[in-house]
This record gives sequence, C-alpha cells and structure tokens, in this order.
Amino acid sequence: MSSNIEALFKPLRIRNMVIRNRVMSTSHAPGYGKDGKPQERYQLYHAEKAKGGIGLTMFGGSSSVDHDSPATPWNQVSVVDDSVIPYFQQFSDRVHGHGAKLMIQITHMGRRTRWDTDAWLPVIGPSPRREPASRSMPKEMEIEDIRRVVRAFADAAVRCKKGGLDGLEISGAHGHLLDQFWSPSANDRVDEYGGSLENRMRFGIEVLTAIREAVGEDFVVGMRMSGNEMLQNGLSQEDCLTIASDYASRGLVDFVNVIGGQARDEMSHAVSLPNMSFPVAPFLHLASAIKREADVPVFHAQRIMDVATAARAIAEGHIDMVAMTRAHIADPHIVNKLAAGRADDIRQCVGAGYCIDRIYVGGDALCLQNAATGREQTMPHDVQPTTGTKHRIAIIGGGVAGLEAARVCALRGHSVVLFERENETGGQVNLAAKATWREALTGIVRWLDGQVRKLGVDVRTGTEATAEMVRLEKPDIVIVATGGSAWRGEFEGADLIHTTADVLSGAVNPSGSVLLFDEMGQHNAASVAEVMATRGCLVEMATHDRLIAQEVGTTNQPIHLREMYKLGVVMSPNMELREVSREGNRLVAVLRNTMTDTEEERLIDHVIVECGTLPRDALYMELKEGSANHGQTDLPTLLQGQTQPAVEGLKSGEYALFRIGDAVAGRNIHAALYDALRLCKDF
Ligand SMILES: Cc1cc2nc3c(=O)[nH]c(=O)nc-3n(C[C@H](O)[C@H](O)[C@H](O)COP(=O)(O)O)c2cc1C
Ligand code: SF4
Repeated sequence: MSSNIEALFKPLRIRNMVIRNRVMSTSHAPGYGKDGKPQERYQLYHAEKAKGGIGLTMFGGSSSVDHDSPATPWNQVSVVDDSVIPYFQQFSDRVHGHGAKLMIQITHMGRRTRWDTDAWLPVIGPSPRREPASRSMPKEMEIEDIRRVVRAFADAAVRCKKGGLDGLEISGAHGHLLDQFWSPSANDRVDEYGGSLENRMRFGIEVLTAIREAVGEDFVVGMRMSGNEMLQNGLSQEDCLTIASDYASRGLVDFVNVIGGQARDEMSHAVSLPNMSFPVAPFLHLASAIKREADVPVFHAQRIMDVATAARAIAEGHIDMVAMTRAHIADPHIVNKLAAGRADDIRQCVGAGYCIDRIYVGGDALCLQNAATGREQTMPHDVQPTTGTKHRIAIIGGGVAGLEAARVCALRGHSVVLFERENETGGQVNLAAKATWREALTGIVRWLDGQVRKLGVDVRTGTEATAEMVRLEKPDIVIVATGGSAWRGEFEGADLIHTTADVLSGAVNPSGSVLLFDEMGQHNAASVAEVMATRGCLVEMATHDRLIAQEVGTTNQPIHLREMYKLGVVMSPNMELREVSREGNRLVAVLRNTMTDTEEERLIDHVIVECGTLPRDALYMELKEGSANHGQTDLPTLLQGQTQPAVEGLKSGEYALFRIGDAVAGRNIHAALYDALRLCKDF
C-alpha cells in the first residue's frame, strides 16, 4: 500500500468521536425520505457504505428544522418534531453495527425552497430577493422569525443527539438560509443582521451558539460552507476565509465542510456538482486554503472520484476528511476493496450526474451504472453464488445490458458465453462517449468488461451470433441484449437524412450547414451538435420540445447549453421537422412551428436526426419459437425477485429465452443494467 493510501486509513478524532478512516460521504438528499423520516430504504442505503468500510457517512441532506423549510420537496427528512427520533436511533444502530459514524445535515432552506407544497407557508429569507433556482420570492424575516429559527435549530439538534447520531452539520452552503444571511447577493438588510460581514455573520453565530448550549459538550457540531461563492455580488474567497476562521476561533464549529461555488441558478448549480466535463478535484484548493486559516478539521467533497486523488488530498494535508459522495453512490464498498488490495474492482463514478439530476424532477437518486444503489432492500451489491442448479447461459450482445447480465450470471456461478459482433464490447455507450465532453462514459464499459473477463466469461468479440450458433452452445438460458439501432423517423425524404449515431460512428462526416432535429431531448443530439460545431459546421438544432435538451437534468443541461452558445449553435425549440427534399446538391428541410402551426424552410447541406432507437430483435424473433417460454419474462415473478418459472421448470434440451435493455425498447444505461441485474440475480 502506498504511503498516500495509508494516510486514508488513519483514524481522526473530533471531540470524543473517533472516525476509523478519512473517507466519508457528505450529506445529500437522495429522495428516499418517506413521510419526512429516514425509513428502511434510506437506512440500508447508508448501511451499505458502512458495510463497505467508509469512516463517516452523513445523511439527511437539507433536513428541515422548521415548518417553513418543508421536507416535502425532494422527499427530505424533517427534524421539526420528536417523531423522527426513533428512526434516528434505528439508523444509528444500523450504521454503528458496521463500525462507521453517522451524522446529519440540518438546515433551514430560507428562500431556496417552495411555498406551494403541503403546508403552503411563505418562504423566508433575510431580504425579499428571489432565487432563480427555486423561483421563490421570500418574506423578509422579522426579528421574531430570526429568534424562532434559531430556536428551531437548537431543538432539532437535540433530537439528533437523542437519536444517537454522532454529530451534525448545519448548512451554510448552496444558498441555504445561513449563507443567505452571509451573502450580499441575498442580504440587503439594514439592521444588525445586514451590512457589514460582521453583521451578516451574526445569524450563524446565534444558531451555532444555541445549538451548543442545547446539546452540551459531548456532541460534534460542524458547518458546511462555500470557499468562494463565485457569484457576482457573492462571497469572495476572502469573505469565506474570514467566516471560517472567525467561527472556528470562537469555538463554534468542530469541523468545516467546504465546497466551491453556490447554487443560486442553473449554471452555478451545475458547477457546484461538477459533472464529467470538469477536471478532478476542481475546488480542493478552496478547502485547502480554509484549512490553512481555520484551526479545525476540514472536510471536502467535489468530484474526487478515484482513490489516488483522495489519498493525495489527505496525505498532502489539504484536508482532513475526503468525501467521495457520488463515488460511494457508484460503489459503496470503496474502502474495503482498497484495503483488500482490490482497487481495480472499484466501480468508479464517471460523473454522469444521473443521481442528482433525477431528484430535481421529483425522482429518487439512482446511479446510472449501479442499479443496486438505493435498492438495497431488493438488489445485491455483492451477488452471491447460487445454491441451486448451475446453468449454461448464452448472452447475445456485449453492450452494457449484456455485460451486466454476464457479470451477474458469472457471479452466480453459471457458465457464461457472451457474443459481441463488434471487436470490442460497449455497444451504444462507446458511441455516446465519442462526444466532446462525454468520454468518461467509457469507464462504465471498462469496469464491466474487466469484471466479466476476470470472472471467466467466454467473451467472443467480433462474432455475430446466429440462431444456429446459439443452439450449438446447448444453453439452458439465452439472454438477448442486442441493443437498438438508431431510427431515422417517419419524415418524408427520410432517405436523405442521417442519424446522430452515423455522425458519432464516423459513417458520415458532415460539413457546411447542418440542421439537427432532436425528437428525444436527451444527451445524444446536444452532444452531436457540439461535435459538429467543433468541427466547423454551422449548426441549427431544432426540437419540438419547449427547451433544447429538455430531458437532460439540472447539472448536465447547463453544460450543453454553455457549449452550444460558445460554439454558435442556433437553438430552435418548438420546431418540428416535416420533410426533407433535394435541391441541387443541397437539401431543403421544412420545419413547423408547433405553437403557431406555420412552416419555415431551411436550405442546408445536411439533415441529422435523433429519433431514438428501435430494438435490434431479429435474432430474438428467430430464437423465440424454439424457447420454453416464447421469450416472455414473467413480470410478477420478476417484481417479486424470484427465479423465472421458465428456468425453474426447464426440461433437458430446452432453453429459456429473455430479452433485456434496448433490445426490448430504447431507454437508457440505467434501465439496461437494471433489466440485467434484476433478472439474472435470481438465476
Ligand atoms: C442526489 C444528491 C443530492 C444532494 N443533496 C445535497 C444536500 O441536500 N445538501 C448538501 O449539502 N449537498 C447535497 N449534495 C451534494 C453532495 O453533498 C456533494 O457535495 C456533491 O455530491 C459533490 O461531491 P462528490 O463529487 O463527491 O459527489 C447532493 C448530491 C447528490 C448527488
Ligand atoms: S449517476 Fe453518475 S455521477 Fe451519479 S454516482 Fe453514478 S456514475 Fe456517479
């Protein structure tokens, strides 16, 4: 083990709490709260990280301390009354049982929330200044509101202590009430809580003082804050250093958890949760600067995805605890794998941002590449060998669905052969990764491919399987994971059109002016617009949606838009492609404005479309007739997590046939992996 890595395994003491190593997960709101409580699903999600060796896991991102900071948006945790205490106790027991520490983040969101939820209370803030991200206009807090919220923080802290948690942090990051008071971008007050930085720090000092008085000395209390808001009229790095060192020197905080940026609008939000377009550890320097000024342990998260970077951050003394938050969403067993000399087996977060983006559309946090995360009640992170019959399994297609199926079947102890017609595995993900800033997607394939080879799967690349070849393998189970082919749509003149897949694969190399029509609103079209504009094409991207890249989430869409603006891509929402015809050596495309029903023409050199994929199902159809189950997955059995009846009842010489991933219907990487995991874990 290198000396840097060894540094990760040194325990850290804060007050009477000893954390067994330097690796942690920061608080986040995964959308798993139920009725404002962290119930079984939520607890098992964190218990898995504890089982995987993490030192400290913090839950309850943005847990509310008062009624006008509702827990309903994003299904968060509410600490407003004592009914949450038994859940905390059960949660602490679960995590402590695996040797990790458990803390919570409590907060008042101020203006950064919604008023139109269950309680319909107006949101509050230091000043009536609207936050673009949450879109709420707050009521200016009266002195009585300030006193009420300070009290609410202290009462909530007591509930955390009674619940057996090891500590808490209050949030002064991402634009919550605490930093709304600090930041001139949100605080225009003229009383003792506004104006000078000293005045703006007052609210936080009152909150932390009240918490300490309420919980006593034997409880860890820290604070999350930005090291530089990077906003016009926001907190500068110097302001942040002053706040951190002032609060630390007053003895108000036992640790400071530092981020870079803020989250007041779409772009700053994307920066605060850096996706794969960012370099690694982009804001470590901000945390490091605070560590030099403030005499308390410093925690830091932000795109530290690999253990080498994590170890360097600790070993070089930049920070005291390294948070690998999304890294643990992708693989909750990082620390144990590292300790066991199995670093190669860590499924590294690729920074796709699918987890965070889902919660902003009311969903739950799920990992693009790990379908077990957040489903610990039903899906295994560690697939165990079967105690039943060992089967011979043939898998057709080495995209992510086929690879995951092969991995899970091999872990179950079955003998697996995988056919892939291309010379390398990865399928459509390989194409997606050819786009300008999406290259890190290849990490998903690299890990799966490495695992299946290590597990002894017979991987036959460059081999297009026929029904005859499959039958010759004498399989008990056949899984068709042949993926989908890009669809050209139903436009008049479709033969003059190419698809985004044609561009990414290099089958066409457009030059001149290009009309790109997007029917899907996902990454593909936006990525291809950027690729073509980077190559010098004049690109107009049209979509019948209200927005460009409408399906792409909060932390990814701004990056696409930024790139397209920079590259001069013309963006035309509410436009539908009707037909394409030839005019000389150019093309004429007819677009219909979906709002006004008027038509416009474009004279261009190329038309590229993104209309999703249609299943590549020819082989499945051929194999269906001879299969024991006519290719049908029994859905109730699948949902109950039991072995498919067709597999249980197989007679000699028969095979059961299943179809997964885009070979069924075009969806996404997560759906493909989940199809594979939930079907194959029960074979
Ligand atoms: C699904 C999700 C929800 C989050 N919610 C919160 C939150 O409520 N409060 C908070 O301080 N940070 C929140 N975060 C930010 C994380 O704590 C962390 O700062 C971020 O993921 C960057 O660290 P990483 O690159 O190690 O993942 C959230 C992150 C994710 C992925
Ligand atoms: S969805 Fe993407 S960013 Fe989130 S944990 Fe998984 S790989 Fe990482």
